[in-house]
Amino acid sequence: MPRPLRPAPGPAIARVDVHLPDRLRGISAEYDDFMHIERNVACNMCHSMRQPKALPQSPAELDEFHQGLVFRHGTLSCGSCHLLGDQTALRRADGTAIPLLDAIELCRQCHGPQARDFDHGAHGGMSGHWDLSVGPRTRNHCVDCHDAHAPQIPASRPVLPPADRGLTRAGALRSSTTQGARR
Ligand code: HEC
Ligand code: HEC
Ligand code: HEC
Ligand code: HEC
Repeated sequence: MPRPLRPAPGPAIARVDVHLPDRLRGISAEYDDFMHIERNVACNMCHSMRQPKALPQSPAELDEFHQGLVFRHGTLSCGSCHLLGDQTALRRADGTAIPLLDAIELCRQCHGPQARDFDHGAHGGMSGHWDLSVGPRTRNHCVDCHDAHAPQIPASRPVLPPADRGLTRAGALRSSTTQGARR
């Protein structure tokens, strides 16, 4: 007898959210508070107090803070994405500001095909529920996976397949007790 079909998903009641990494809110202070939660210092803690004369031309110019930033992103310059004097925002191609938390809008301007793939779920991955009548879904943010300054994902090396420790050399399944005894 064929199994009866499951009912079609009900109306979507849960939301799809995009994960917002802490790096879009500030810089890690590299210490934990008493709850063992890593502290984050908002960009404007420092940037509201300094008025720079110009954006750097290269990361080597950063000697007071943010030293060691690696930059490898096509032929872009810092001013392609950053504004002078407002580090709570990023720069749209027409010069207007986008809040730091909307960084996807920045990436989207120049990476149309990936943004389109992201929108229909073929790029960037997700966690949670497919069926939004059951529960919510969370999408990853572009900068969860790509460093905005050096976005290339390193090529992966092919390696040997993992040894399946549940199988003997002959391919027969070993019982879990003998497996435990061997360790
Ligand atoms: C602890 C203080 C501090 C925090 C927090 C901080 N910055 Fe900065 N930032 C600085 C200082 C100081 C400079 C100047 C460095 C230099 O020129 O050597 C700077 C420089 C920069 C520059 C180069 C342009 C300029 O204004 O000189 C950018 C872009 C920048 N920061 C972005 C950010 C962003 C985005 C955040 C949050 C994610 C952030 N910063 C958080 C202190 C800070
Ligand atoms: C493609 C867009 C883009 C370009 C080009 C770019 N940035 Fe950024 N930058 C970002 C985004 C997005 C963030 C916030 C997220 C993060 O920190 O990764 C950021 C954050 C920063 C921060 C604070 C946090 C950190 O990562 O240290 C500094 C400092 C910074 N940028 C400096 C620079 C400098 C200097 C240049 C030029 C050499 C530059 N950026 C070029 C997009 C860009
Ligand atoms: C102003 C245009 C612009 C913006 C904004 C921009 N990019 Fe890029 N991106 C480029 C260019 C140009 C290249 C280099 C293409 C090449 O070399 O073929 C590139 C390359 C890349 C690559 C491929 C790297 C490689 O070497 O294979 C990734 C991944 C990437 N960008 C991600 C991002 C993300 C994530 C953001 C948002 C934080 C972003 N880009 C914002 C223009 C941009
Ligand atoms: C779950 C992690 C993840 C997220 C989130 C993600 N990407 Fe990627 N992206 C990758 C990986 C992995 C590759 C490398 C694919 C490859 O080398 O074949 C890639 C490749 C790229 C490339 C280079 C394509 C090429 O053919 O060289 C661009 C541009 C890019 N992503 C942009 C984006 C943008 C824009 C976003 C946000 C809308 C985004 N990515 C979100 C993992 C991610």
